[in-house]
Amino acid sequence: MAKQITKNIKWVGKVDWELTTFHGNELSTGHGSSYNAYLIRGPKKTVLIDTVWGPYDREFVCRLKQEIPLDQIDAVVMQHSESDHSGALVELMRLIPDTPIYCTAKGEAILRGHYHKDWNYINVKTGDILELGAGESLTFIEAPMLHWPDTMFSYYNGEGGVLFSNDAFGQHYASENLFNDEVPSAEMMYEAEKYYANILNAFSPMVMRKVKEVVAMNLPLSMICPSHGVIWRKNPSQIVEQYLKWADAYQEDQITIAYDSMWNSTRLMAEAIARGIKAASPLTVVKLFNAAKEDKNDILTEMFHSKAILVGSPTINSACSFAIAGLLEMIKGMKFKNKKAAAFGSYGWSGESNKIISNGLSEGGLDVVDEGLRMLWVPDKKALETCEEYGKDFAEKL
Ligand code: FEO
Repeated sequence: MAKQITKNIKWVGKVDWELTTFHGNELSTGHGSSYNAYLIRGPKKTVLIDTVWGPYDREFVCRLKQEIPLDQIDAVVMQHSESDHSGALVELMRLIPDTPIYCTAKGEAILRGHYHKDWNYINVKTGDILELGAGESLTFIEAPMLHWPDTMFSYYNGEGGVLFSNDAFGQHYASENLFNDEVPSAEMMYEAEKYYANILNAFSPMVMRKVKEVVAMNLPLSMICPSHGVIWRKNPSQIVEQYLKWADAYQEDQITIAYDSMWNSTRLMAEAIARGIKAASPLTVVKLFNAAKEDKNDILTEMFHSKAILVGSPTINSACSFAIAGLLEMIKGMKFKNKKAAAFGSYGWSGESNKIISNGLSEGGLDVVDEGLRMLWVPDKKALETCEEYGKDFAEKL
């Protein structure tokens, strides 16, 4: 069902309640997602902004046909060519093959690379305008790396000003409601943060530049329509301000401890280190996660808003555990800034895991404060006191 947003704009996307992972299995989606597509009926031209993910292509086109005869769509704007937005394009363009597709030059290259079709591409740059009649228009704003090199925003100057921001300001959040003021705020904001941390944080310098650039344009803004999740209708600038904070080496007074454990020794170390941190810094939020049991993307989100992280693994086969190795690889990709870190873990004979973890954290750009803490076999009372002392020292180094 299409849903009316304003007099001239309808949502024609797809809510995907079933989605549990995104980017293959790289990203968990605890509350599903949506692929938002929008239909703008200007005084003279009607424009479709983005499509939906491929598995829903026929459903999307079928519902779009109920909304408008497809030959009355004057232009398709592809703000970003990733499959979750362009997946229904082949089915749509099969029916309206000559309709112009407005996209960046990189967008055209990516669409050609994905679908191998010689569609009617019209390349646009920042400041290019698509007139919709009677003074109404869409202005394009290139936004490379928010989320891919091809990404652009589109600004509609009608109805108080509407920014179509594609992935930026999005949330993987399925809802039957359209707007931010109609959903549980804390739940939705968690998904907005998880989205930023896991998808955009690596590109924070570009996010900061682009968001500042858009703010400096001083455009009238009644709402922000992202390509995932709910529309920012109530106080849309709140998410803009939040992005400026998140993009600026964001941290709260939190320390996150992620560990894996074969026979509980590394877990006992983690818990003793946590006690030490709390003793030294009672107000600091300390959270522990068994990386083999907990969701990797939720752990990364916790790390994203932490001032420091501790990563622990037993040594197994002269290495660290599968879960911690995977987590370290993801930490490297996050490009965290301004975070302290250290390694810990139990061992029986060779004890390489600390060094492997410390190296991984350093390669990920974290400030590793010391050589970490190793414990032979099962920690006894004295060893656990040493772990508590280590936690105290760690907290005091921050
Ligand atoms: Fe929602 Fe980068 O695609």
